[in-house]
Amino acid sequence: MSRPRLAVLISGRGSNMQVFLDACATGLLDAEIGVVISNRPGAPGLALADAAGVPTCTIDHREYPSREAFDRALAGEVSGRAVDLVLLAGFMRILTPAFIEPFAGRLFNIHPSLLPKYPGLDTHQRALDAGETQTGATVHYVTAELDGGPAVLQAGVDIRPGDTAESLASRVLPLEHIIYPLAVRWHLEGRLSLRGSRAFLDGEPIPAGGMLLHEIGR
Ligand code: GRF
Repeated sequence: MSRPRLAVLISGRGSNMQVFLDACATGLLDAEIGVVISNRPGAPGLALADAAGVPTCTIDHREYPSREAFDRALAGEVSGRAVDLVLLAGFMRILTPAFIEPFAGRLFNIHPSLLPKYPGLDTHQRALDAGETQTGATVHYVTAELDGGPAVLQAGVDIRPGDTAESLASRVLPLEHIIYPLAVRWHLEGRLSLRGSRAFLDGEPIPAGGMLLHEIGR
């Protein structure tokens, strides 16, 4: 049987994408990357994918008259690559139902906060400004609500005196690199699914905030 194919959508650096390239290459994930798509020409992650011999493609959102037109082009490109799962990995565009609906239940995102706290941008700075004692990252299924789809897996870090947005990002990012492929592995193994607006793992509904990395046996 052929291995499941993943599309990874990026806008920039591509460190989460690189984790998927590595996971597929080492067999940690029994899958292959069918395409890496960037909405930004020259995104550094594209060069990483090229170096790994993975097909890449740029769809520049500035060339489309509306979000929906861009999303339809993106959906067409992804569909044409015959992929099973779509992973947003630092993809900095808000998607409309024109993209989300065709891939419902097969579309994941990684977000650098403990959702439902701090959807959107500047998450670490906002967590600091609010005096939080913890922040982290969340893998979630994507639905039409921005950063609002059912959470699957979270990992947290304690906020220490003197922390900055940069120091938090440097502690949270390695956790993103653990929880994202883990959630995708669960999905590919058939253990994880989206049913309606709820995520299920091993037949059990996942609690609203998602599973916590430090509480699970992997
Ligand atoms: C990550 O922090 C991710 O959570 C957020 O954007 C950043 C992307 O980093 N959505 P990278 O491009 O994967 O290195």
